[in-house]
Amino acid sequence: MEIKQVIFLALMGCPNADGQSLALDESETSAEQPKSNEAVDSLKETSTEPNTRRPPSKGGRSSSKQHQLAVTAADHKAAHQVGGDCESVCRQAVARHQAEERERLLAGQPAERQERLKKRWREPVGLRRAEKVGKCEYRSYDDAAERLAKNDADLVVGHVDCFSYFPGSGRPPMGLHLARSSDTALGAHYADNAREEHASVYAFRQLRSQLASLGAPDALLKRCTQAAAEEVHHTRLMRQLALDEGCGVEPVDEPAPIHADRREIAVFNAMSGCVAESYAALVALWQSEHALDPKLRAVYAQIAQDELQHAQLSWDIYAWLKTTVGEAIQCEVDAALQSALDALPAQADHLCRPDLPLLGLPNAQEMQVLSQRFTEGVRSVLAA
Ligand SMILES: [Fe+2]
Ligand SMILES: [Fe+2]
Repeated sequence: MEIKQVIFLALMGCPNADGQSLALDESETSAEQPKSNEAVDSLKETSTEPNTRRPPSKGGRSSSKQHQLAVTAADHKAAHQVGGDCESVCRQAVARHQAEERERLLAGQPAERQERLKKRWREPVGLRRAEKVGKCEYRSYDDAAERLAKNDADLVVGHVDCFSYFPGSGRPPMGLHLARSSDTALGAHYADNAREEHASVYAFRQLRSQLASLGAPDALLKRCTQAAAEEVHHTRLMRQLALDEGCGVEPVDEPAPIHADRREIAVFNAMSGCVAESYAALVALWQSEHALDPKLRAVYAQIAQDELQHAQLSWDIYAWLKTTVGEAIQCEVDAALQSALDALPAQADHLCRPDLPLLGLPNAQEMQVLSQRFTEGVRSVLAA
């Protein structure tokens, strides 16, 4: 899969994009690239300047991740009314968490802002975020029956491990939940992006060690190392933008090692790499043309150039892993990929920021066209 071609074709098909001019120009990418691992480690030491650091966000929009959501007796009861399987319990729990999150975001906002937010959230609560696009697993507690018998709606009776993919700034590591800030200011947006980029540094370190344990070719391992160094650079670019807006950036802690087998690694790569990171590259390319500030366009051009390589790396890993597994796992990986593609058009809408035109993000209509064309392009190449 030559993902770059798919991305360029998707951009060229969007009515407001000038596809021809989206080829990256080296001269626009002024920033210097870090090369060493010292740079990776230095992120933690320098990332909280200046004194305007904000506390770690709780809740808010999230990047792709593995959620662990508490399931209450009320969730359980509602889910059983619509079938009671793992997926419906998951949907119910996510819907409630999302409703709580939205209530928190609305609290204290001026009425006009509340109306705008509600319009943005025009779809019924929970339906988009709770879409099952990977595996999710409901585990009820051993004493769930006793808890349910107490008839207390808020009593937690189990939890859902929900792998819910959501496109953000790039590839997340397995097992890390990053929440976006509820602050809608430009600086907070850059700070969220900086944290997501920082998480991607860990993602590529984790991926490298997972691939090494699976006996992947050296060339793939080296590309992971290179990608981690590039994510350090993206973190710095985004952090500087946040600092310029007076917003400090909380560093991201390295996630604890997580055990994953070959199948899980392949599924995660298909969803978070082949779909999410590839689409993030497309969006960065769009911004490199549409951001209102030339300096910002140069930053997105640099990021897009690297993200295209990372997207290609994901597809090359996808191809290699497929040669190492049996037919059943191949089918499972492809099903996860198709699910992520199915979910993309609805989920990409979360990336729109009509309140921050400076960023040059696609508007809702453009995002729909781009995500549809991207998914169609990927599907037609896969089918060829
Ligand atoms: Fe990145
Ligand atoms: Fe990346």
